[in-house]
Amino acid sequence: MKKFTINTVVISFLLAGFQLDFQSSVNAAEAEGVLSNTPMPWAYAINTPDIDVPFAFNVPRTVPDSELEFVFTNPRNLYQPPDWHPQDHPLMPEIVASGREPAVFACAYCHLPNGQGRPENASIAGLPQAYIIQQMADWRAGLRRSSEPLHGPASAMQAIGFNATEDEVAIAAAYFSSLVPRKWIRVVETDTVPETVVAGWMYIEADGGSNEAIGNRILEMPEDLELTELRDDHSGFIAYVPVGSIARGEQLVRSGNDAVCTSCHGEDLRGLGPVPPLAGRSPSYIARALFDLQEGNRRGLWSPLMEDAVKDLSTSDMVAIAAYLSSLEP
Ligand code: HEC
Ligand code: HEC
Repeated sequence: MKKFTINTVVISFLLAGFQLDFQSSVNAAEAEGVLSNTPMPWAYAINTPDIDVPFAFNVPRTVPDSELEFVFTNPRNLYQPPDWHPQDHPLMPEIVASGREPAVFACAYCHLPNGQGRPENASIAGLPQAYIIQQMADWRAGLRRSSEPLHGPASAMQAIGFNATEDEVAIAAAYFSSLVPRKWIRVVETDTVPETVVAGWMYIEADGGSNEAIGNRILEMPEDLELTELRDDHSGFIAYVPVGSIARGEQLVRSGNDAVCTSCHGEDLRGLGPVPPLAGRSPSYIARALFDLQEGNRRGLWSPLMEDAVKDLSTSDMVAIAAYLSSLEP
């Protein structure tokens, strides 16, 4: 067994001007007791103060299907993510595996080495190369912002998009577009869900909680919290969605809207040319993307193509569309 230690300095979140903006808006919002700036707090999970995911430091850790063993002295070191399954993917370029201190966190920390991603970020495995390059250019130009200034991961991505050089973007885009996305999210229609809290920018089961009504939302949670916190890129997510939402989403995507989604995203919704795939991707991410496009906070070079598709969508339409799209095979 190979052994590694994930160690060193506590990273600074103060990257670019954007990041400073983010800090001050967080402080202002906290002072005012603002909990959410969007009608979809389930899509933009905001950390609960003082609650963190439990994590055992300084002891050897392993995950299934891996020969490796890591000792984490600081699991939040965003320049040194573990790579549990190096045989699964091509050799990671340096910018993906380790980033560039102090301006660009390692892509693989958040998106995972195989690009499958997590609810608070995005799956980027197999996205078209030209699409990735365009999104990074939109961040650099300040054209892609989150509708939720308190959503730390989106602010971090904004800073990364701002700071990454054209060469780094080209290298990372070539890497991630070469990966093949796998089924990663199990979508379950249900009336009730576990009571949750947000920690580590994710919904997790509340200690000693019971069940509650799902209401008009999606709850995307780790299948196995411990493995997710170890950043095991074989351990996926479960998405609880309202009963009937998958069929309603199919209707909206395939026939209900003026701008039929499949004409641009492909008949199988796995993307078409530079237009991104939607099948099997995180419902939290899809809902954020739709809302950010609708609100005009995401207004990149290609965003006008989505204008007709999003303009009349309600929150329940977004729930249904996200439920349907994430239930598909990627
Ligand atoms: C700190 C965590 C973090 C790191 C590190 C990170 N990202 Fe992201 N990334 C995000 C988040 C969060 C989103 C989704 C933003 C949103 O929901 O608005 C995202 C979204 C993206 C998207 C858009 C996906 C889409 O479908 O439009 C691309 C492309 C991307 N990241 C590329 C990269 C690259 C390349 C790197 C490394 C240079 C990187 N990211 C590093 C958090 C991160
Ligand atoms: C005219 C072509 C077109 C149509 C029709 C269209 N899309 Fe899109 N879609 C795009 C393009 C181009 C983008 C990338 C937008 C950008 O770069 O900001 C996109 C982005 C998206 C995204 C964000 C993906 C990501 O990775 O961030 C989602 C979600 C989405 N579309 C869903 C839909 C749905 C649902 C419909 C139908 C209701 C639809 N689209 C119809 C062209 C289209």
